[in-house]
Parts: sequence; C-alpha cells; structure tokens
Amino acid sequence: MIRQGENVVATRWTVAVTREIPEAGLRPLRESAAVKIWEQELPPSEGELDALLQGCDGAVTLLTDRIDGSVLDRHPQLRVVSNFAVGYDNIDVPAASERGVLVCNTPDVLTNATADHTWALLLAAARRIPESIAYVRDGKWRTWGPMLLLGQEVSGATIGIVGLGRIGKEVAKRARGFNMRVLAFDPFEDAEFAREHDVSYVPLEQLLAEADFVTLHVALTAETQHLIGANQLQRMKATSILVNASRGPVIDTSALVDALRDGSILGAALDVTDPEPLPADHPLVSMPNCIVVPHTASATVQTRNSMAELAARNLLAGLRGERPPAAVNADEVL
Ligand code: GLV
Repeated sequence: MIRQGENVVATRWTVAVTREIPEAGLRPLRESAAVKIWEQELPPSEGELDALLQGCDGAVTLLTDRIDGSVLDRHPQLRVVSNFAVGYDNIDVPAASERGVLVCNTPDVLTNATADHTWALLLAAARRIPESIAYVRDGKWRTWGPMLLLGQEVSGATIGIVGLGRIGKEVAKRARGFNMRVLAFDPFEDAEFAREHDVSYVPLEQLLAEADFVTLHVALTAETQHLIGANQLQRMKATSILVNASRGPVIDTSALVDALRDGSILGAALDVTDPEPLPADHPLVSMPNCIVVPHTASATVQTRNSMAELAARNLLAGLRGERPPAAVNADEVL
C-alpha cells in the first residue's frame, strides 16, 4: 500500500507523498530522500496518514489531507509540509508555525490553468453547453431552432470578480478580451492593475447587484466561509450566473440550491463544492442550470507537472533549512 521509493541515492531524509503525483515531483524527491507514497486513489484515513508519516522529516500533502496540531504532535520529526495546491486551508498554519513546521504551497504555476478553467465553466454555463450535448446525445436534435437552447451573451456583459488575487487578475484579463465590464471586490486593492486593465473595485453588494457573471477567487478563511449565502444570492440578477473555482464552503450550498430552484439566479458552474465530493444524488448534480465538475481547475498535464516540481523543490529546500520558493509561514519559522 505504501510504496518505498526506488533508486534512493541518499537517505538523509524520509519523506511521505500522500498520493501518486507526477514523476516531475517524485524524481527530485527520490534523488535526495527515501520516499513513501500513498498509492490508493482515495486519501489515507487519519490512521493511515499516521502510519505513512511515521519517521518522515517532510511530506507532500494534498488538499484532502487534514494537517492540524494533533497530527503534528504525533509526528514531531516532521519539519516541512509541502501542500500540492495553492490553497492551504487543509493545514492549520498557526499550529504548524508554533511547532516550527514550515508550510509550503504551489502558487503561480496553476494560475493560468485555473483562470482558463474558470472561463470554460463560465462559457459552458452561459451557453448551456452540457444541456446542448445531452440534447444531441438524447436524439432530440431534429432541426435548427430559433428558440433552441438560448443562453446568455458573454461578450460585453458585466463580470464581478470576488477576490482579485493572482487567479482573479487572470480572469479579469480574459474578461477584457471579451469586451466585458469588469467589477472586482477585494479588500486589498491593486490600483495599478485596476487602471491598466480597466477594472473597477466596488463593494460586494454593488458587484452582486450589477454583475451578469459572478466568479469567486478567494481563499477559504473564517471571513470567506459562506461569503455567498441567501442574502447575497437574493441581491444577484435573476439572469446571472455564479461560478466558483475557489473553495466549496465559500458558498452556502443549501442557499444556492434554493436560489437555483426559485430562479433568484439563472445558473451556477462549480469546480468546487461543499461537501466535496458532492454525492451523485445531490440536488445540484441533477439541476439543468448547474454544472458541477470534480475540482479540476488546475488539472492540465503541464500544470500538474509544474505543481509537482514546485512541491518537491519547496520540500527539499525546507529540509535543507533554506527558504523554499513558496512557503506560507517562512517568516515565522525560518
Ligand atoms: C486547488 O484547489 C488548489 O488550491 O491548488
């Protein structure tokens, strides 16, 4: 179940990788450490994770692994936790910092893939692509129809980007390519970017009221949990579409089900859900006005290779006592 790494040159360290990741990340790890890999498709249980982390100096973890103070206390030899994701809400960072454990993530390398995917979801929902595919597959296509499967115009519409960080900014650039009016809500304003790309910062309430497409790109924190609930959905236009490529709990799922059912908004396209995975019999899965994909925004061959490479570089740098290319608590720990 746990495969020991092959071709181990130096076994100065032992590291765990909590799932099969691209060779681009495993290769450098194997060159410097003994590597234990969790090879199952499903994440390790708490007990299985404990067994995997036994004797490890570092770990490449996934967003499905909960790493909190109690896990770290059970593995005091663990010095670096290198998350194979830009988001790190699965890790209790203050608990790690208190214990001198370095936490790393994989920003930048997945920005374009995630923005592209957001765009794919937005276009698919606006132009009803999944419904159209099903229509043809079901043998319903009998003629060209003036009223057939009418969607919403994307070009020239207004997009509201909630969270204008790295990914939100790339979404803004794509939106400008579609001649959209771009609104953004973010407590940290980048005036230069806004000027250069014709983005207007507005309060969240205004964004929700004016946008034809609302897209979420915030990290999951106590402040952003259920940022979009019943009140916010009520403020949105009845013709609007909500896209989420951030974290599922940013939206109150039951409020979204109600809003899609009662027509408060027109549609939703979700890369992430709460809970995750979403059971196949969940109402959101069968609603024709909701697209759900399995958290695949960064899932391109190229991006996953880059994430693996960066996660390995972060881990090895941390073990060497160097500042990793992307660490979230380097200032606290190093
Ligand atoms: C994926 O959701 C990530 O945070 O990288």
